[in-house]
Amino acid sequence: MSDKIRNMFSEIAGSYDLLNDILSFGIHRRWKNQVVRLAEVSGKTDIKLLDLATGTGDLAINFKKKFKSTCAVTAVDFSEKMLAIAKEKARSMNLEIDFRQGDATKLNFEDNSFDVSTIAFGIRNVDSVVSCLNEMSRVVKSGSKVIVLEFGQPKGLFSELYTIYSKYIIPYLGKIISKNFNAYNYLQDSSAKFPCGGEFIDIMQSTGKFSEIFYQQLSFGIAFIYVGKTV
Ligand SMILES: C[S@@+](CC[C@H](N)C(=O)[O-])C[C@H]1O[C@@H](n2cnc3c(N)ncnc32)[C@H](O)[C@@H]1O
Repeated sequence: MSDKIRNMFSEIAGSYDLLNDILSFGIHRRWKNQVVRLAEVSGKTDIKLLDLATGTGDLAINFKKKFKSTCAVTAVDFSEKMLAIAKEKARSMNLEIDFRQGDATKLNFEDNSFDVSTIAFGIRNVDSVVSCLNEMSRVVKSGSKVIVLEFGQPKGLFSELYTIYSKYIIPYLGKIISKNFNAYNYLQDSSAKFPCGGEFIDIMQSTGKFSEIFYQQLSFGIAFIYVGKTV
């Protein structure tokens, strides 16, 4: 499974940012800004932040841009091609980010190495959600925040419209722009199946690693942010 996912992201790396902006009408940037706010690193110094499944590095770059001198950012992804784009973006903005290739479910960091850990639109792709959450909690200090941004399924009136959009328009545009129908079909399929809201909170709770868990619903439930503090 992970090889297939890694290859898929490597294949679409070149058009990933453009499609993200087009398909979400740029709204993914607002969602990522909200992750940054919830991390509550503003006003603090000597923060060590870890962003997993960083992809082309948007969230890691967002943190580094806002907290250049107070936050050391490490960012991990298992696709070399996605990382290459992330590195080039950070270099062009003169931002120092420690990009590493690695698996979010088997991290190569000591326990208690970070003050915050984030993952945006990555956790639904990993082989084991629980292993990823366990690793995120292991590498941060006790009482630190672990923050997950992931797609959900909107409910109510909007849900019908969104289903049509995500089932037909997203794979179609994905195919035209990235030349890869399967990747954007997978995006729709994996998002439609992924546990969201209370169900994801139950998974976080089941690990026994978090307290003060809560979630925020974004854009009628298209996406969710989950926050937990490590015990
Ligand atoms: C949808 S992209 C999200 C990228 C970025 N975080 C964003 O919000 O735009 C998912 C990323 O997760 C990475 N990924 C998936 N499974 C992974 C794993 N087990 N370990 C590390 N990276 C993984 C993929 O290579 C891809 O870059």
